[in-house]
Amino acid sequence: MNPLSIGQHVRSYVLRQGRLSPGQQRAIDQLYPLWGIVFNARQGPLSFEELFNRRAPTILEIGFGMGEPTIEIAKTFPEKNFIVVDVHGPGVGNILKLIDQEQITNVRVLRHDAVEVITHLIPFSSLTGIHIFFPDPWPKARHHKRRLIQKPFIDQLAQHLENKGYIHLATDWQDYAEQMLKVLSHCTALTNTVSDFSARPYYRPLTKFENRGLKLGHSVWDLIFVKETE
Ligand SMILES: C[S@@+](CC[C@H](N)C(=O)[O-])C[C@H]1O[C@@H](n2cnc3c(N)ncnc32)[C@H](O)[C@@H]1O
Repeated sequence: MNPLSIGQHVRSYVLRQGRLSPGQQRAIDQLYPLWGIVFNARQGPLSFEELFNRRAPTILEIGFGMGEPTIEIAKTFPEKNFIVVDVHGPGVGNILKLIDQEQITNVRVLRHDAVEVITHLIPFSSLTGIHIFFPDPWPKARHHKRRLIQKPFIDQLAQHLENKGYIHLATDWQDYAEQMLKVLSHCTALTNTVSDFSARPYYRPLTKFENRGLKLGHSVWDLIFVKETE
């Protein structure tokens, strides 16, 4: 049996409770019913057409954090649908506020563990793209097992990409970047779009945090692989 499907996977996050601002809590109460997806494993895979009231290429983002880059990308591609997943309450409140303020209609938010989301809610061969930007690096060796980018998860994600669909990862941790390159390169369904790391594509905005790091001489590694079924 696939261990990911029985809820026993090692979690890639630690949920810190509290610290929701009143505005974030209000956004969750008022806006999650409009733009959120309630996780229900028993309901079976989502119909993207029903969810967005249109047929359009659909991107899944895992771990959107506070959501600013996500909203920028959604504004760059109004013709695409975005299903964006995170477990972090303040971030969920924040992205819902941004959706409301900027009158975004092509984003749906899912507050749940992405491993369970992909297992239960995302149809096979349905996604045009998957974005995972700056996943938690878990720098201590004894915590590496918590890193999201591991072979079983990437093999599973690849099954949910359509043919020619892409997966785009970014990290500012060199050893995690190397692990990502190794894992993606060993996934037989995926092909690198370049020989190792990609240049940052125009659609991924430079965050304040990233900009600061780059000025200090830190690096960022992007990886873009595509699914080739032939
Ligand atoms: C370091 S933050 C990066 C956030 C954002 N992508 C950015 O670039 O600023 C990683 C995010 O991934 C989320 N996360 C980690 N594991 C997750 C999982 N299994 N499912 C959903 N979200 C997850 C965390 O809650 C956190 O918000």
